[in-house]
Amino acid sequence: QRKITIAIDGHSSTGKSTVAKELAYKLGYLYVDTGAMYRAVSFFALSENLINDGQLDEAALEQRLKDINISFERDPETGTNEVCLNGKNIESQIRTLEVSGVVSKVASVSAVRSKLVEQQQRMGAAKGVVMDGRDIGTVVFPDAELKVFMTAAADVRAQRRYEELTKAGQQVQYDDVLKNVIERDHIDSNREDSPLVQADDALLLDTSHMDRDQQFDTLLHWVNQEL
Ligand code: C5P
Repeated sequence: QRKITIAIDGHSSTGKSTVAKELAYKLGYLYVDTGAMYRAVSFFALSENLINDGQLDEAALEQRLKDINISFERDPETGTNEVCLNGKNIESQIRTLEVSGVVSKVASVSAVRSKLVEQQQRMGAAKGVVMDGRDIGTVVFPDAELKVFMTAAADVRAQRRYEELTKAGQQVQYDDVLKNVIERDHIDSNREDSPLVQADDALLLDTSHMDRDQQFDTLLHWVNQEL
């Protein structure tokens, strides 16, 4: 059976990673969470004090990019890929509101994007990959056989993310989560380099009124049309 490239883009907290991961597992494909890579760079910038009072020192970050090595490591228990920064697994530290609050700013720096895009293209070069992010179908793999653009009403997305964070033991307010979701979409959609936009040939998946199974079934149906 032929192997294809599946690009899943969309707004924040639409459940992209969850469904992309399931799909990759079902197909025996590689799954790449590109948001985790931007979060890892943001984690680095925060740890190295390159962000103060919410202000990112872009020049300093650009200079330090060569010191950043991002990789993935398979968790033997869950079988999922976890992100590592310079060899250290930081998966459990990148989904906080602190990181979410700065990641869109970090992701708008062109030097950051070109470094990560190049790595993503290498990771997916052999096809048989499901990659999720904001610019996969438009920039990373413009020739992907299947492109999906996921969205949902902002309050639905914030509610889902709020439940996820609370379940993970994080103390957050719903209003702060909603604010972050809206703010990230705004920055991601309006940045100069690779803004978040639905590719002309991407299929739209609005998950406002869909549960996970319905999302998965729709995606799988689209995949089967390509195989
Ligand atoms: O997917 P996730 O919500 O974890 O992504 C975090 C942030 O990383 C996004 O809000 C966006 O600013 C950035 N991002 C990006 N391009 C990608 C993936 C993520 O700019 N391909």
